[in-house]
Amino acid sequence: MTDCQEGEGAKTPMELYERLSVQGDKVRSLKTAKAEKAEIDSAIQLLLKLKTDYKQVTGQDYKAGCPPSENMNVSDNGPAADGTGDEDSVDPWNVSTTNAKGVDYDKLIVRFGSTKIEKDLVDRIEKVSGQKPHRFLRRGIFFSHRDMHQVLDAYEKNKSFYLYTGRGPSSEAMHVGHLIPFIFTKWLQDVFDIPLVIQMTDDEKYLWKDLTLEECHRFTLENAKDIIACGFDVNKTFIFSDLEYMGASPEFYRNVVKIQKHVTFNQVKGIFGFTDSDCIGKICFPAIQAAPSFSNSFPQIFGGRKDVQCLIPCAIDQDPYFRMTRDVAPRIGYPKPALLHSTFFPALQGAQTKMSASDVNSSIFLTDTPKQIKNKVINKHAFSGGKDTVEEHRKYGGNPEVDVSFMYLTFFLEDDEQLEKIRQDYSSGAILTGELKKILIETLQPMIAQHQERRKQVNEEIVKQFMTPRPLNFNL
Ligand code: TRP
Repeated sequence: MTDCQEGEGAKTPMELYERLSVQGDKVRSLKTAKAEKAEIDSAIQLLLKLKTDYKQVTGQDYKAGCPPSENMNVSDNGPAADGTGDEDSVDPWNVSTTNAKGVDYDKLIVRFGSTKIEKDLVDRIEKVSGQKPHRFLRRGIFFSHRDMHQVLDAYEKNKSFYLYTGRGPSSEAMHVGHLIPFIFTKWLQDVFDIPLVIQMTDDEKYLWKDLTLEECHRFTLENAKDIIACGFDVNKTFIFSDLEYMGASPEFYRNVVKIQKHVTFNQVKGIFGFTDSDCIGKICFPAIQAAPSFSNSFPQIFGGRKDVQCLIPCAIDQDPYFRMTRDVAPRIGYPKPALLHSTFFPALQGAQTKMSASDVNSSIFLTDTPKQIKNKVINKHAFSGGKDTVEEHRKYGGNPEVDVSFMYLTFFLEDDEQLEKIRQDYSSGAILTGELKKILIETLQPMIAQHQERRKQVNEEIVKQFMTPRPLNFNL
């Protein structure tokens, strides 16, 4: 097993915690039973050793009754552990770094305790699915995972799984970055032929933003059209608004309550940085994002089965929710969801931050015209890794690693060889920044135009079909 965080012999905080609880009980019962002193002493020795290990792994003292939650209390916003102060900041609401290349994802893997997607996993996905891996996998855009090997092991033994992803509908306008998880999820749905649930967290956006409930729900319906336009199969996909489905499904709400009972205020404070002045809606919300990870939240799809494995493709900033979910799962008798994490889609201004729907110039919107794509966005705003003058550029070459146009091409240009040639030519100075931008414009314009064409076909009736609780078509 390559998932070293949770593999055989590896000691995760949770495993250590469980062993400590067992050992603590053992010491107590030996004492009660007035066992031999030597026996009690050796049990205590082991207990102390486990406590030392626990402190080493979690940085905290063991407290009976206070589970550690597999790395879930890593604070993503604290100062750098090494005191240099240059740590990236990544949480569900904020992403920032001082590095022009973007967030250091290798460090993030260590900090979050997930596992890097190595070539062997990509090869395995190819073998098991029988399809060429998606370019997001070939290029490390989906770069980290939890338990993906287990999902594939089971799939090879004819045990299927389902997909869960989501979107926080904070405005009508979606940009290309928002599509990354959906484009990839659509590919997964196709190659594995499996059901998918998509959560629209209009409740979350109401709680976090200055928006009315009506606005948030309207954004759900509008964003659903863009999501559907990615090509999901209506017979295998259920899209739901929290504001509608939470009230309509007792099974869903029961899971929310179960999760709420197993997470303390202290834990969510540690994971999400909530403070005493945050409204209580925020404090409970993580349980609502966790609930779709459990198949019995959807009885109309899974007929009450609680053991169908869930796989969640998402951007890495959503991981805190699922660290919490994975910690709770075994304690309420459910399988832990597996995860595939993507990097962030960089803002046009540079990879220091992810794009924002509220800054028109930071992104390419799904409603942009070819002209807007060309003028407004690419030519004026895209951060370039090129040199100041043509002479210098020809002499020293450009730097694709910090060049936003090149980064965008890695997301959207399908042809690997063409991409590699562009990389080499740009680095050597053979092609100029303007030429690179032209290639990007020519890649994006048809892509966005096709999206707009498909979105036009999605009427209210189709949205309603996707959003109606109903059985889906698949074999588990
Ligand atoms: N919280 C996410 C957002 O703000 C939406 C979301 C809900 C989600 N469930 C998810 C994203 C599962 C990825 C996977 O966009």
